[in-house]
Amino acid sequence: MKNLMNITDLTVEEIDELIAVAEDIIANPTKYQDACRHKLLATLFFEPSTRTRLSFESAMHRLGGSVVGFSEAGSSSSAKGESLSDTVQTVGCYADIIAMRHPKEGAPVVAARRAGVPIINAGDGAHNHPTQTLTDLLTIWRSKHTFEGLTIGVCGDLKFGRTVHSLIDAMSRYEGVKFVLISPEELRVPDYVREAMDKENIPYIETTDLESAMPTLDILYMTRVQRERFFNEEDYLRLKDSYILTVDKLENAKQNLSILHPLPRVNEISVAVDDDPRACYFKQVLCGKYMRMALILKLLGV
Ligand code: NCD
Repeated sequence: MKNLMNITDLTVEEIDELIAVAEDIIANPTKYQDACRHKLLATLFFEPSTRTRLSFESAMHRLGGSVVGFSEAGSSSSAKGESLSDTVQTVGCYADIIAMRHPKEGAPVVAARRAGVPIINAGDGAHNHPTQTLTDLLTIWRSKHTFEGLTIGVCGDLKFGRTVHSLIDAMSRYEGVKFVLISPEELRVPDYVREAMDKENIPYIETTDLESAMPTLDILYMTRVQRERFFNEEDYLRLKDSYILTVDKLENAKQNLSILHPLPRVNEISVAVDDDPRACYFKQVLCGKYMRMALILKLLGV
């Protein structure tokens, strides 16, 4: 496999392998410290990012490789009107592998036709975010030691949240997984996501009520309302605080619930929840670095 556009580009077995490599990196970091020596990663970020870009960059540095790139479209020649295709073809002359984030759905697929080196989709519009899902999968694996039989609550902006779409794609492949999709009416999962679940007979319910769903959940995946994808600010302001997870709301939750959030958090999880042992979102950040290290190794064939 050369590129990673969607999480389903990886088989379940390949995901198991990546998790095994990530676990080995965690156990033996020095074994990997020169694995990508003389290799160059380019990070092309046409949209803001903290974790995704910096975790890719730190992953490459931790593997002994180097990094070039830009963190906003305005500092690249796309500000002068250069096409994505030309930008990527250029960067493919410099780097061995490219991680790119773009506001347009499908942009990485277009880029991959021209790059000549492996392309990783680091988020395309409201569509997909496969490396966040790798991060989420390692976090779930480390807390549950299985992917099967889990009831996964996904809460917030299920319409525009690309991490949600990729997580559903990934977790739908495991036996006994059920989804509880918790969102305001206007921010329900897109039809194409619902249709894919229907086609595969994946059990799910849709609800607006987080509290009544809470006692059934093994995983609670909170998400931010994606302001940048709204057509008008008024709708955003009306919907932004639809769900705020507080300590009180966790009273009826399972003792072994795992709370995930791709971050950045705006207001969806009260800071007081951070001290609850069920809060996994900063462990999730760390998992992101290890899974991206494992992915870079795989795509570069190291
Ligand atoms: C997410 C993203 O960019 O889609 N964040 C991330 O990559 N960790 C989620 C978000 O921005 O809300």
